[in-house]
Amino acid sequence: MKNVLITGGAGFIGSHVVRLFVNKYPEYRIVNLDALTYAGNLANLRDVEDAPNYSFVKADICDFETLCRIFVQYDIDGVIHLAAESHVDRSIKDPFTFARTNVMGTLSLLEAARRHWGGDWEGKLFYHISTDEVYGALELDQPEGCAPYGSDFFRESTKYAPHSPYSASKAGSDHFVRAYHDTYGMPALVTNCSNNYGPYQFPEKLIPLFINNICKSKPLPIYGKGENVRDWLYVEDHARAIDLIFHRGRVGDTYNIGGFNEWKNIDIVHLLIRTVDRLLHRPEGASDHLITYVTDRAGHDLRYAIDATKLRNELGWEPTVQFELGIEKTVRWYLENQEWLDTVTSGDYRRYYEEMYR
Ligand code: NAD
Ligand code: DAU
Repeated sequence: MKNVLITGGAGFIGSHVVRLFVNKYPEYRIVNLDALTYAGNLANLRDVEDAPNYSFVKADICDFETLCRIFVQYDIDGVIHLAAESHVDRSIKDPFTFARTNVMGTLSLLEAARRHWGGDWEGKLFYHISTDEVYGALELDQPEGCAPYGSDFFRESTKYAPHSPYSASKAGSDHFVRAYHDTYGMPALVTNCSNNYGPYQFPEKLIPLFINNICKSKPLPIYGKGENVRDWLYVEDHARAIDLIFHRGRVGDTYNIGGFNEWKNIDIVHLLIRTVDRLLHRPEGASDHLITYVTDRAGHDLRYAIDATKLRNELGWEPTVQFELGIEKTVRWYLENQEWLDTVTSGDYRRYYEEMYR
């Protein structure tokens, strides 16, 4: 495989995947296609933008004609599809945008690939990046002590039961990818991953938002009681899994990717406060007063927990970054990249955030 189209490469996870592929595979041409929405930022890729095997195309995945042109122009053989609207809170306010980008955009990309490949599937692959949120929510039936906080886990065989407009739109896109495999024989793969964290994550998501707010001594809005549980994975571990699955995953199959790392939101908030305060040389507990309990997210899923045993057993993948160390790395990155943070927290994002917490 030579010409790889990565969609959403200017976003959080996409930028880590583009960087990994550009550096690791000089023999590939990596084409990053991104519409540069509020979440896309080419500053995430400064270190690879001049690489000879890298090209950027600004385009919308809903623009079918343009997609068809790009497939021809770069003679694309492989697709790694990450472009999406990705924030649950935004999907609650504006579900149409999520259906458009995540469902119609994915369908447009599939159809452009099908037309270009013309039924000759040799050496071709459409790899779709999805989320564990499509599986719905798990019980919190072991709430005391340490993780795991429940007896059940999301497995590849778990039935889809999405609750938010975001997860419903991702479920729809997953179904279309599998339909293209089953109906036309397109070589396709889907992976469903848990919550990612790390550098370059847009500060509307829990971890970067709270790091930013602790630094600036702003309130930390915890939804509900902070008892919800998520399974966290360092973004570079996800990028490594994507690389492995792109090259060695069984075509037509699904893999769950997760950190074996469940945390209650409130415990993460305390960890973030401790870490930021220590690195800023503030006294211990200085930012505890910023904790603010706010109205719960509508339809807030209680617990996510991925069973990634299949990926471990079949392809030998393991998460490598221990959570407290990953959080320390992440906090240091945000402290050292204040300019990046200030740039992305202006404009559209500032308006959205002010409206949300007015
Ligand atoms: P992100 O919001 O940081 O980035 C999304 C990127 O897609 C941005 O660069 C944006 O400009 C681009 N984009 C949006 N609409 C587009 C359109 N119409 N055409 C072209 N580009 C468009 O998202 P992320 O957190 O990096 O997530 C990437 C993918 O991984 C998504 O598909 C998401 O559902 C999935 N995922 C994310 C997580 C997570 O924890 N962040 C976990 C599992 C799966
Ligand atoms: O599970 C994978 C998913 O993880 C991805 O598919 C999504 O793209 C990604 O955004 C993420 O979704 P979450 O909704 O779990 O992530 P978020 O960072 O928005 O929220 C994490 C938890 O923190 C969740 O229980 C809601 C809570 N939260 C979040 C924010 C932004 C708060 O309590 N306060 C907040 O201000």
